[in-house]
Amino acid sequence: MSLCDMNSLLVAARQDGYAVGAFTVWDMESVQAVIGAAESVQAPVIAQVGPWEADFAGMELLAEIVKHVALRASVPVAFHLDHGESFERAMQAIHCGFTSVMIDASNLPFEENVAVTREVAKCAHAAGVSVEGEIGIVGGGIHSAESGGELAMTDPEEAARFAAETGVDALAVAIGNAHGFYKAPPKLDFARLSRVAERVSIPLVLHGGTGIPDDAIREAIKHGVAKINVCTEFVAAFGRAFQEVQSQPDFAYNVPSLFSEPRRRAMELIGEKIKLFSGKR
Ligand code: 13P
Repeated sequence: MSLCDMNSLLVAARQDGYAVGAFTVWDMESVQAVIGAAESVQAPVIAQVGPWEADFAGMELLAEIVKHVALRASVPVAFHLDHGESFERAMQAIHCGFTSVMIDASNLPFEENVAVTREVAKCAHAAGVSVEGEIGIVGGGIHSAESGGELAMTDPEEAARFAAETGVDALAVAIGNAHGFYKAPPKLDFARLSRVAERVSIPLVLHGGTGIPDDAIREAIKHGVAKINVCTEFVAAFGRAFQEVQSQPDFAYNVPSLFSEPRRRAMELIGEKIKLFSGKR
């Protein structure tokens, strides 16, 4: 099936009332876990790389790994830049073969966010690459200083103007979601999400998928969310499995015994997420 642009996956998802999972990848095992999980449930998937992963592993190397595995996959795979922090980063990703880029200028004033997002969209579209923008600020992670609070939430009118003026294909919203583990179960503002969805017809994106209860995920999908990002829970599944295998009394250091179980455990977690997002559980 192989590598595809993100827009075609998400338009079908919003139209038919399901969401495509987008999972952060940083090495061979994580790429195999994400694409292998999607194949095991026969659903499309998005493998994504943020600035942290790109700087850690090298964008070109990661791109080669993702493309190699995706091109041999039995399901459609989009390859996405998550939280691209600059025009230059987005262009570098396109050069490396990403099929989709996010430009996240959500911490800038509205007009500046529009200007840089519109510029990225113009160049990306010329290369056949999809674009995600963000309006409102999703807390935690890279914008931790601004996390939470009514002021950072997406304003429905602004969202409509932003989508129209930038030409983005997908729009990330801030409705009480945040990156990383939640200290208490998140209370997503579905009334706000539904006002955004009434005004914005393109697929909506929910960041901070880790720890959002299943029912809230289903509700968000009913209100136009067509892409859901998960990172922390996935990394944690790897980390915990690493710890566990090494603490077994008969553990011996060799590559399969160290890496197989974390990859298997992560693949299982992602498979369950994809089933939830696609309405199969
Ligand atoms: P989590 O780390 O909370 O799952 O969020 C992932 C994300 O939104 C990446 O953009």
